Amino acid sequence: MKRKLLSLVTVVCGTLFLGGSIALLPTVSGQGSDKNERGRKLYYQYCASCHGTDGTGNGPAATAMKNAPPSLKNLKDADGKYPALRVKNIIAGEVDVTSHGSREMPVWGRYFREKKGSSEAQLDVYALTKYLEAFQPK
Ligand code: HEC
Repeated sequence: MKRKLLSLVTVVCGTLFLGGSIALLPTVSGQGSDKNERGRKLYYQYCASCHGTDGTGNGPAATAMKNAPPSLKNLKDADGKYPALRVKNIIAGEVDVTSHGSREMPVWGRYFREKKGSSEAQLDVYALTKYLEAFQPK
C-alpha cells in the first residue's frame, strides 16, 4: 500500500516537474541526455570536484572529506530503475542522504535558488538529475 502511494506520488510529481521543464527548457527535455549541455556544465562546475568527472567519486576534493563522496554510477531503486525523483530530491536537499552524522554535500537546491531564483534552480536540479541518469550502466 505504501509502495503504491509512493509510486503514485512519483508519477504525479514527475509529470508536474517534466511539464514545467518542457515548457521552459526545450533544449534539455526535448533531446537525449547526451545533449544535456546544461547538466554537463553544472556537473563539471559543481559536482566533479567531489564525485569525479566520470561520477566514480574520485574528484580532487574527495580526499579532504570525512565521508568519501559516493560513486554516482549505480543509482537504482529496488526495481533496478534509475530513481529520478529520489536523486532530484537529494540534489535539491529535500531528503536526508546521511544515515548518521552531518550532511557533507552542499544543499544545491538552496544554493541555486539564492544564486538565480527558484525557477532557474528547478531547471538546474532537473538538468543534473538527467545528467546523472546518463552515467548509469545501460
Ligand atoms: C563537497 C563534495 C561534494 C560535492 C561538490 C557534491 N557532492 Fe554529492 N555527495 C557528497 C557526499 C559526501 C555524499 C554522501 C552523503 C553525504 O555525506 O552528504 C554525496 C551524495 C550524493 C548523492 C547520493 C548518492 C547515493 O548513492 O545516494 C547524489 C545523487 C549526489 N551526491 C549528487 C551530487 C551532485 C549532482 C552534485 C553537484 C551539483 C554533487 N553531488 C556535489 C559530496 C559532494
